[in-house]
Amino acid sequence: MSPLNTLRQSGAALRHPSAALGGAVSKLGHKVLPRHHHKEQQQAPQGRGMMLYVEDLTVSFDGFKALNNLTFYLRAGELRCFIGPNGAGKTTMMDVLTGKTRPDSGSAYFCSDPVHESADNMFNLLEMDEVDVVQAGIGRKFQKPSVIESLTVAQNLELAQEHNKGVFHALTAKLHPHEREFMEEILERIRLSSKRNVLAGILSHGQKQWLEIGMLLMQRPRLIMLDEPVAGMTPEEIEMTIDLLHDLEGKHTIMVIEHDMAFIRAISSLVTVLNAGSVLCEGTIDEVSSDPQVITAYLGSA
Ligand SMILES: Nc1ncnc2c1ncn2[C@@H]1O[C@H](COP(=O)(O)OP(=O)(O)OP(=O)(O)O)[C@@H](O)[C@H]1O
Ligand SMILES: [Mg+2]
Repeated sequence: MSPLNTLRQSGAALRHPSAALGGAVSKLGHKVLPRHHHKEQQQAPQGRGMMLYVEDLTVSFDGFKALNNLTFYLRAGELRCFIGPNGAGKTTMMDVLTGKTRPDSGSAYFCSDPVHESADNMFNLLEMDEVDVVQAGIGRKFQKPSVIESLTVAQNLELAQEHNKGVFHALTAKLHPHEREFMEEILERIRLSSKRNVLAGILSHGQKQWLEIGMLLMQRPRLIMLDEPVAGMTPEEIEMTIDLLHDLEGKHTIMVIEHDMAFIRAISSLVTVLNAGSVLCEGTIDEVSSDPQVITAYLGSA
């Protein structure tokens, strides 16, 4: 039985996160109330311990449903992989959860600190824009690296840290000593300490991907979303990315979209398979890759 089914069948005390919070207002001013009140009757997981509650998300592009009642839950501390054929809706899912795309219907709540769940750390993602989502504690890396090539590695990291204060401030102001120390930790973690003064433009593709992960880390996100982080990497770079994700595991909750099965096998305990905008199944990589529904979905897309 999938963990999702286990949650759904766990019965007692199932409630929507907002129900426990009495419609209080979060610190970003986004009412912690479901947009669709009938959703309160819907089954949801245990009220505590979840970082993401995603229910019935539907997104249509010209009548085509890129997401179709997408429902899943993510526990704090998980490293979850999302796989699925091209066009399954994986990137669209991240677009919706990070304020880039508005869904037609559904709900998505983020709890930045599930151990101390309260109105202050429960966010209705569907009412937030991309900047609010970052401030609430979600960092997202797009498939293509978007580092600034004419700046050094260190400057890119400083810019990420200071993103709220504007580019000019970021390039002229000195980081506080504790921020500089934190940047050194990040440089070490992303294996770029020796490249700190090198222009980002001359890094390898893999190093640019790591720099972008470092830029996310500078914002101290609770939840990190990575869209195809190892696409285009050499086998050595993939190995180093596996190490990097193992370093991050436990410190952050992580969602990874990937097609590389060997990479997924190396990093993840639980895999969610999307197909045609919905969850097809969940399980270990071995369970899902031998599931006939998954095989059919992939063959159908070939
Ligand atoms: N802005 C958009 N306008 C119109 N259609 C879109 C838009 N964004 C995505 N789609 C369509 O929605 C569907 C899902 O796309 P999405 O990019 O989410 O898939 P994916 O699972 O990330 O695929 P891949 O593995 O190829 O990256 C596709 O059919 C895509 O063409
Ligand atoms: Mg995609």
